[in-house]
Amino acid sequence: MSDPRPSVAPMTRFTPESSTAATSAPLSSPAPKPRGATLGKANKTQGYRCVECGWQTVKWVGRCGECQQWGSLQEMGGATASLPQPGLVTTAAVPIAHVAAEDARAMPTGNTELDRVLGGGLVAGSVTLLAGEPGIGKSTLLISALASCARTGARVLYITGEESAAQVKLRAERVDALDPQLFLAAETDLGAVLAHIDAVQPDVLVVDSIQTLGHPLVDGVVGGVNQVREVASALIRIAKTRGFACLLVGHVTKEGAIAGPRVLEHLVDTVLHIEGDRHTRLRLLRAVKNRFGAADEVGCFEMGENGMWAVADPHGLFVSRLPEPVAGTCVTVALEGRRPLLVEVQALVAATASAAPRRATQGVDGSRIAMLLAVLERRVGARLADREVYVSTVGGVRLGEPASDLAVALAVASASWQQPLPEGTLALGEIGLAGEIRNVVGVGKRLAEAARLGMRRAIVPTGSARDVDHCGLAVVEVCDVRDALAAARVDG
Ligand code: TYD
Ligand code: MG
Repeated sequence: MSDPRPSVAPMTRFTPESSTAATSAPLSSPAPKPRGATLGKANKTQGYRCVECGWQTVKWVGRCGECQQWGSLQEMGGATASLPQPGLVTTAAVPIAHVAAEDARAMPTGNTELDRVLGGGLVAGSVTLLAGEPGIGKSTLLISALASCARTGARVLYITGEESAAQVKLRAERVDALDPQLFLAAETDLGAVLAHIDAVQPDVLVVDSIQTLGHPLVDGVVGGVNQVREVASALIRIAKTRGFACLLVGHVTKEGAIAGPRVLEHLVDTVLHIEGDRHTRLRLLRAVKNRFGAADEVGCFEMGENGMWAVADPHGLFVSRLPEPVAGTCVTVALEGRRPLLVEVQALVAATASAAPRRATQGVDGSRIAMLLAVLERRVGARLADREVYVSTVGGVRLGEPASDLAVALAVASASWQQPLPEGTLALGEIGLAGEIRNVVGVGKRLAEAARLGMRRAIVPTGSARDVDHCGLAVVEVCDVRDALAAARVDG
């Protein structure tokens, strides 16, 4: 053991041994003693920190043990860094009441649903990230929204890195988005984009997409973490200094994360997610983060032949228009963010020849359905174990909240006993394993929407409608599934 080297491995070397030693030695455990060392540099080192996620380790390793990023560890300073010299201030601090707020007022884009999600419109100097899967309609939404923005007199610069200018023009023609104030350029280099910004002096800049733009002075492949972060940071700086609103399009990976890790979500002011089933026309735009408005707003759009259009009153999309009541359907009111949406659940219970009957769901969580079927079997004696059960929502909407449990259970029970619910009936409530119906949030708001759309009867959890306006609906309070079946006139 005559090795005089310090125990801290040099930064340039990565060995499997150093990796395991480091991951198995968290900072809280006593640091291993340097072998026979009184060496200055090693003693000053407090360890290494990942620049991506902040993970710390005693020894240098090639890959972060937390975010799995390669080469992101940097040495932490031993002593506390000394203070910088006081520098020049850019603007003097003023009492908060004297700060001019005009610059941060939202400018409407003219697209009502987009404005609702943005919190009024685009704010000058702000940066918005529009994320979604490839092909979901990001470019289509933007080109029509930008055209309406241009019609309000704003100068809009659209940088396309994915399609040629001709392709974008063809789409713009199709969605009636040709406007002299809408400028288009196909570029994949940040330097060229800066030149376009100088030339056009836009009020709104769109980069479609951030993963196709490269920073000439930064290492890494275009679309990689490093490039995406640097290009976004550069655009954010320019947007803030020049005072234009910037919209960045970002693709999401299969796992649903915005490619170029979450780093972009932290940098930008607003993150919008566009989601929907590609086989249906409905697209939902959600604000995941919003520095200028509510983060739980949802915008509804319909993808049509000629563009993606805002749907101000989307109820018609999620309920079928059957001439008379059919067994196996029940309506509920889902809360998407703060927005109540009337949604129809449909169920079919059919005989099977198979030993393991199929359970297929669409728009509803499969494991939740399994639990609701078990509750129906055990608590009200529904015969489902040897029959196939299919459950789906109308229009491709996803029911994520437990408040829709009762509607799902009533649809299945109605299908099982072949008895339709009375016309104009809706159901709200979460179902527990004992078959009890639990209260849900926003009952007043949901009932008001249901009444507005012509529903007549509501089955709700006990006590939930006591202090709210029934809006003319006949409200029946129920405490368990058996009560609910009686209220829905389905006899188990
Ligand atoms: P697009 O906006 O290119 O998706 P993204 O930018 O998110 O990758 O949308 C592509 C899909 O939208 C494509 O399958 C065709 C369809 N589409 C319509 O249905 N109607 C239209 O008017 C347009 C322009 C596209
Ligand atoms: Mg696109």
